[in-house]
Amino acid sequence: MTAMPENPPILVPHVSGVTKAEGLSTGPVSVEPYRSSEYYERECRQVFGRAWLNMGRIEQLPKANSFFVKPVEACKATVLVTRDAAGTVRAFHNVCTHRGNAVAKEACGQRNRFTCRYHGWTFRNDGDLIGVPDEAQFFDFDRKDYGLKSIACDVWDGWIFINFQKVPEVSLAEFLCDLGRVFTGIPYLNTHQALVMEARLDANWKLIADAFAETYHLKTTHPQTLAPSFTSDKNRLGRPVGGRTWGIHRSVSTYGNMDYVTPATSKVEQLANLHSGTNVLAGDTSEEVMRLRNHPAINPAGSEHWSADLTWLFPNFHIDYSSGGFWTHEFWPTAYNKTRWVARIYMPTATSWRDRLAQEHYAARWGEVLLEDIGNCESIQTGIESGAIDEFVLQDAEFMIRHSLHTLDNWMNAETVRDAISANAQSVSS
Ligand code: FES
Ligand SMILES: [Fe+2]
Repeated sequence: MTAMPENPPILVPHVSGVTKAEGLSTGPVSVEPYRSSEYYERECRQVFGRAWLNMGRIEQLPKANSFFVKPVEACKATVLVTRDAAGTVRAFHNVCTHRGNAVAKEACGQRNRFTCRYHGWTFRNDGDLIGVPDEAQFFDFDRKDYGLKSIACDVWDGWIFINFQKVPEVSLAEFLCDLGRVFTGIPYLNTHQALVMEARLDANWKLIADAFAETYHLKTTHPQTLAPSFTSDKNRLGRPVGGRTWGIHRSVSTYGNMDYVTPATSKVEQLANLHSGTNVLAGDTSEEVMRLRNHPAINPAGSEHWSADLTWLFPNFHIDYSSGGFWTHEFWPTAYNKTRWVARIYMPTATSWRDRLAQEHYAARWGEVLLEDIGNCESIQTGIESGAIDEFVLQDAEFMIRHSLHTLDNWMNAETVRDAISANAQSVSS
């Protein structure tokens, strides 16, 4: 009797050897970055305190004088992002300069001034202090000295970023490196509406980010949901069809089973398909979708089996592209073993009740998949905190995790941000 080969042949072009090609090490990696509170404290300062951090998209400020508020727990900050009547986007600490109360209490809205509810100081949305009750009773007081404390802010291709350094050592363009240049001009569809899923998890932020950064888990974590459409007899474990690093950032192209047909028994998926086409990630061949598919940043390997690009912007932000649209993940640490995770799945406005109902099923389907992904993370945190293992063993399809840890290490140790970025460029060839 002939034994079955342990690894069945893969009959489609796929990538193998990315780890080595990108100059990364191949040995096991330490789990200390995931379980050490000292590492976390340093990470807050060296990484979150110095990197450009994504706040959201420009469409979250849809009108003149729109604003939104966003916590960044790792920096003990709450950020107020405003857009003035002329369209300029700014960011401030949401902290009254009188005695520290929050000036904006709502998560978002539209207003050109913010009045603190404690003693009534009023700030314009460009940060200037414009009203102080009983001002004459203060001493040597000049309003100009007490505007809202600004935070460096810049916008790239519709994405709003902030930086907590008083004067950022590098510009956003320099931070984004080649990725910023190549990914510019991507046609982002349905940017005005997103299905938002948010959860607080008892796991280090990198464990959640890692969960969405590799395809090795497809068959076993998503046996009934994603595996049938992202694996096939020709590629049993869904090995990726492309992958590379972009300086401190990285992306992987996933395989799609082009022969997949929704089974008659999958009722929710069938109803969701009324909205999305043939499966949860599929799209159509409209002009916009074709423009996306033809963008040089998308499916860089040009695979005919391409289904999605998972793109991880250092440190804590993913933008994922597929023909069916795009979605994002944010991973905000709140402690070394706690994370606030936010996923946004951008969707078109429903044009009929039928469409709306289909979207509800589409959302349910997404919920199921995402729960499968995050379902492992708390158990991993418990596992590594037990001390039973001190290392993770990573295979080639997990190269984004290895690159993330490698990049973090550079930032943890580098004196300056420019040093951190160039350490990456020197040690990892592109
Ligand atoms: S704390 Fe804001 S007006 Fe006093
Ligand atoms: Fe997954």
